[in-house]
Amino acid sequence: MNNKNKDIQEIINHLKATGFVFQGSEIYGGLANTWDYGPLGSLLSRNVKNMWWKEFITKDPSNYALDTKILMNPKVWEASGHVANFSDPLIENKKNNKRYRADHIVEELFPEIDVNKFTKKELSDFIKENVKKYDNSDTDWSEIKEFHLMFETFQGVVIDKKEKIYLRPETAQGIFVNFKNVLRSTRSKLPFGVGQIGKSFRNEVTPGNFIFRTREFEQMELEIFSKPEESMEIYKKYLEKVWQFILKLGIKEKSIRFREHKEEELAHYSKATSDIEFLFPFGWGELLGVAHRGDFDLSAHSNFSGENLEYLDPITNTKYLPHVIEPSIGLDRLILALIVDSFEKETIENNETRIVLKLNKNISPYKVAILPLVKKLSENAYKIFEHLLEHDISATFDDSGTIGKRYRRQDSIGTYYSVTYDYDSLEDGKVTVRNRDTMEQERIEIKNLVNYLRK
Ligand code: GAP
Repeated sequence: MNNKNKDIQEIINHLKATGFVFQGSEIYGGLANTWDYGPLGSLLSRNVKNMWWKEFITKDPSNYALDTKILMNPKVWEASGHVANFSDPLIENKKNNKRYRADHIVEELFPEIDVNKFTKKELSDFIKENVKKYDNSDTDWSEIKEFHLMFETFQGVVIDKKEKIYLRPETAQGIFVNFKNVLRSTRSKLPFGVGQIGKSFRNEVTPGNFIFRTREFEQMELEIFSKPEESMEIYKKYLEKVWQFILKLGIKEKSIRFREHKEEELAHYSKATSDIEFLFPFGWGELLGVAHRGDFDLSAHSNFSGENLEYLDPITNTKYLPHVIEPSIGLDRLILALIVDSFEKETIENNETRIVLKLNKNISPYKVAILPLVKKLSENAYKIFEHLLEHDISATFDDSGTIGKRYRRQDSIGTYYSVTYDYDSLEDGKVTVRNRDTMEQERIEIKNLVNYLRK
């Protein structure tokens, strides 16, 4: 089924029932737009992070790992421009006292119009002129205000001497401020990359669409430092690399597309930026971005910190600021995309419908389920289960309910194989392995099971 025709509420209900995603602080009535990963969502998220880590860090000898803190010296955010510029245009409907992202209103109602061309005043005039009813209400629009997205907090123990600091809105700056440390400690030559996975926080005006836009989210970011003249080639290489990564995770090619930012849309420091968009049930939306950041960040941090962040080229003996290419992926959006893309309802035998999450077997919460045909066979089957766990194969065990029901349960959480231990297994030392997608079954020798599942 086309993702656009999938029912997001049905997916959310399914994710709650099966233990992928729960509403945050639910027993207290929740906290708006916060979501917790349950037992299965946590496994899925861990598997996706591992794939990213392997693909972008461990498999590439020129890329290094980093793990920097959420709290940073507030001067970092002055240098990066976030204190002065990181805001969204907010407009209030005085008829119902609700606040909205002005640009989102225009994007939603007039998709043919490019909002990036508007100045703030033009955007405000356009909405006043053209949007007389919105969100089921008549309108009386305020002027547009810039709403700052940085999360503020305070550190220190003495009440009147607390210092205002921020929760980071991106993990990238932790990498830039450590550029010199990484360069020195790894004794690297350009080009090289530095990546990390971690939480970021933005006080979004309009969070929503489930885990698509939240105020706390996780990013997987990589900053590749290179000679200025090599940077465009690296930018193109990474556009292709992230595209292939998304396909490798199992997302269908028809569900994604590139969107290159137009010149007027580019951040003032960026030479080029492209997003990969994904077709969500609520329409095409940004999944990730690849940005050419030039030398903006290193130059800003050199100026603000007084530390010279130039690179001494060992061949030409000249000093210059490297340019930066940044593929930045939002983990939560990627998880939503993976679930939406793999969620299917199929009619099978006896006119029964099954929900199946056709997740790539390397990221499914469980690769295999061990299912004894009847409870009497549980003890033997459990030994197989333990054997698989010892061999690092992600497995689950289920001996309650009919075998048909148990297959459905595993299909609905994306388990790739179901292994049934039956009376014949006692005699022939074989089990039945059922494939989630084809539902075909084959008999496999128990002693070959680990190899079979690994292939
Ligand atoms: N360091 C560059 C940077 O942060 P961005 O386009 O603002 O760039 C990168 O964010 C990615 O982070 C986005 O493509 C998206 O996947 C994710 N992201 C950004 N804001 C988010 C939010 N409020 N909720 C969930 N994911 C978000």
